[in-house]
Amino acid sequence: MSGPLAGRRVIVSAGPTYEDLDPVRFLGNRSSGKMGFAVAAAAAQAGADVQLVAGPVHLPTPDGVTRVDVRSAAQMHAAVFAALPADIYVGAAAVADFTPARVATSKIKKRVGEAGLTLELVRTRDILAELAADPRRPRLMVGFAAETDDVDDNARHKLAAKRVDLIAANRVGVAGSGFEGDDNLLVVHDAAGQHSLGPGPKTAVAADLVALIAHRLDPEPP
Ligand code: CTP
Repeated sequence: MSGPLAGRRVIVSAGPTYEDLDPVRFLGNRSSGKMGFAVAAAAAQAGADVQLVAGPVHLPTPDGVTRVDVRSAAQMHAAVFAALPADIYVGAAAVADFTPARVATSKIKKRVGEAGLTLELVRTRDILAELAADPRRPRLMVGFAAETDDVDDNARHKLAAKRVDLIAANRVGVAGSGFEGDDNLLVVHDAAGQHSLGPGPKTAVAADLVALIAHRLDPEPP
């Protein structure tokens, strides 16, 4: 394969995670997976060997991409670490931060909560932060930040707190616009500053992000 990422191994996580409550219910989120799938497609087009770890979405696998389907945050964590080694990790998935402390083996019946029902949730593991602190850390770590408020401040905080190289931030509307639409606007933060990608179709914004990643790995290609 030729292209700016030829010979590179890339892991991309994409989509939501579903955290089961009982055999019929789960806690999920509005991520469509489109942005992560577009990044996986653009990286494969740039010549990379791409492993895509996908949460529950109905999207076709991009050409030339190896896909592993997962459901929960714990499964996504295991699949990402199983896909190592890699040169680049792009965490585009909207991973649940909390999961039910217990999964009921039978359907939770309405009668258990005449006055309402309180769910006990526990924290999930942070895949991006754990991978960034791991001895097998890919050379370039890219996180996403989906924010409703203070987008830039939150993105810069995540860049430092998770010890990653790039954070691609997007604003999410109350109707989930940044998640479900076909267009996106990303502001990519690094230690030196920020770059805007888009607005435009997620496929075009993903290609720009992959070009930026390739440039970071290899600023002066032959
Ligand atoms: N992420 C992860 N594992 C988690 C939670 C988040 O790998 N358990 C990654 C996401 O894939 C994304 C980045 O961390 O690349 C930021 O995710 P986001 O949900 O915006 O931030 P959180 O760390 O969850 O913080 P908060 O929800 O407070 O904004």
